[in-house]
Amino acid sequence: MSARRAAGRFVTFEGIDGAGKSSHIDALAAWLRARGHEVVLTREPGGTPLAEALRELVLQRPMDALTEVLLVFAARRDHLRGVIEPALARGATVLCDRFTDATFAYQGAGRGFEREPLAALERWVQQGREPDLTLWFDVDAVTAAARRAAVRAPDRFEGEDLAFFERVRAGYAERARAPRFVRLDAARTPAEVRRELEAALAARGWW
Ligand code: TYD
Repeated sequence: MSARRAAGRFVTFEGIDGAGKSSHIDALAAWLRARGHEVVLTREPGGTPLAEALRELVLQRPMDALTEVLLVFAARRDHLRGVIEPALARGATVLCDRFTDATFAYQGAGRGFEREPLAALERWVQQGREPDLTLWFDVDAVTAAARRAAVRAPDRFEGEDLAFFERVRAGYAERARAPRFVRLDAARTPAEVRRELEAALAARGWW
């Protein structure tokens, strides 16, 4: 077995706010644990005490797009060093609610931040680390807004208008050209999305 395959798998979950990814992450974690796998369930921005403190700032304080970019990558650096890399090194499966694709989608496509500095920060901060699989919960902005309105008060991102979320969605579509991406039709019922997700995982044959 190669060194690469001996390490754990890094799976990320993406989509616009209201796509409904959270319940699927929890279900997948439970399914993997029931099969005896060590699972590290984490999120971005966040995942370490420092990164969670940065998350609070990013989600609540007014700031410009460059500051936002620097804070999410600072949080990501700490998260990679403190949680993700050690977990993968010991063979755990890391399930991460959002990662760098969210920066390209929200700060890049959503806020209109240039892609090249984002790509440079991605290389610098991640040192070659990329998700093995990215599950993209894709839904239109109108459906997602209706779901959000039903459950919670908006943070700085969730309060953005429909045009912002359509740009974010288009940003994900751009990133989804990478082979590690699997698009799930998140406009469907949770049970249908679950079946799609299970089929995507079965096709990988990892677990
Ligand atoms: P989210 O993951 O949706 O958590 P919750 O379900 O608790 O609301 O919230 C994180 C927000 O941060 C989301 O609106 C997207 C945003 N975000 C960025 O703008 N850039 C990033 O790089 C990341 C990781 C998240």
